[in-house]
Amino acid sequence: MVEFETIVNPPQEVFEQIVKLTSETEDWAFQLNDYNFWSSNFDQFWLVTVVEKGTLNLVASVSLARWDGEDGPLFSVGMYYVVQKYRGTGLGKPIFQKVMDIAGDNNCTLTGVVKMSEKYAKDFGFDKCPPHWHLFSSLKLADFVIPEKVSDKYTSKKWSDVDYDALTAYDRTICTRDRKKLMTPWFNLKDTFSRVVLDQSGNIVGYGTIRLVTKNRLSPAPFYADNIEAAEVLLEELLEMVPNWQSYTSFGFLYPECNKDPLTLLEKFAKSKESVSTGVFIRSQFTKKLIPTPDHKVYGLADCAHQYV
Ligand SMILES: CC(C)(COP(=O)(O)OP(=O)(O)OC[C@H]1O[C@@H](n2cnc3c(N)ncnc32)[C@H](O)[C@@H]1OP(=O)(O)O)[C@@H](O)C(=O)NCCC(=O)NCCS
Repeated sequence: MVEFETIVNPPQEVFEQIVKLTSETEDWAFQLNDYNFWSSNFDQFWLVTVVEKGTLNLVASVSLARWDGEDGPLFSVGMYYVVQKYRGTGLGKPIFQKVMDIAGDNNCTLTGVVKMSEKYAKDFGFDKCPPHWHLFSSLKLADFVIPEKVSDKYTSKKWSDVDYDALTAYDRTICTRDRKKLMTPWFNLKDTFSRVVLDQSGNIVGYGTIRLVTKNRLSPAPFYADNIEAAEVLLEELLEMVPNWQSYTSFGFLYPECNKDPLTLLEKFAKSKESVSTGVFIRSQFTKKLIPTPDHKVYGLADCAHQYV
């Protein structure tokens, strides 16, 4: 009979199985470097895993980040996953409970998939939610085309060519919590391309990062813009930064349902509107206090494991 053991903060090899399996079975879009990024840049980070005893063969995982701010610590739970053959055998819940015990009475957030959202609310108190879900709209790159005309009211620059204080000040209009120390490392991650969009007076009106992720996909995370015209300039110029962007398989926005612009934008870049597919994906959930977000500016969450915007 197979026996199991729990390993907290296992070697990278275990995380690589998580990235690969969650991509294959759930279509999640993470990078191999995310483990190192989270461990190095949050105030504390736990990756709790179950493996087949005596091996590093993944059975189950869940991650927890502690991110301190002016409003106290915010915990976030992500990467909750049980390998298909072990689902429903009770191996998932104890590790979920373990990270909830660490989070204690502090505010805690997660993005719950449709089938689990209610369970998180009922069993673990994640019942402070915005009224909307987050949708995922995607398009195959083979069906993508840069429109002949995009707005000439905006220009974009590499993130490293704009004033970092201005960029982080803009970010405070997106995320009320200070992400200054997280932003540089996430822009510096391997296989990512970041750009900032500015209006004619040089004011920052959005920024975005395209990440190369598993299954040869492009993942815009994050992607923010004050309006759709700025967003179309950002999208065009970001794509142009990715060598041979047409050779990737797909591109998709994960965005609040109440914002119609991400879908309109994708349709504008699609050979035909019918080639864009959309589904309900996740809900942002908190245990103690819902942190509001400017949903009309959000085209893509920064990270659906450990960020809520
Ligand atoms: C979610 C997941 C980790 C649960 O793993 P599991 O092996 O079923 O875990 P457990 O057997 O310990 O069950 C945990 C609880 O979740 C419930 N649950 C599991 N899958 C469920 C589903 N599809 N719908 C509703 N409830 C579900 C179980 O009924 C159980 O509740 P109970 O204790 O009240 O009986 C697993 O189904 C999975 O990996 N799914 C794909 C990845 C995913 O969606 N993760 C969640 C991201 S937010």
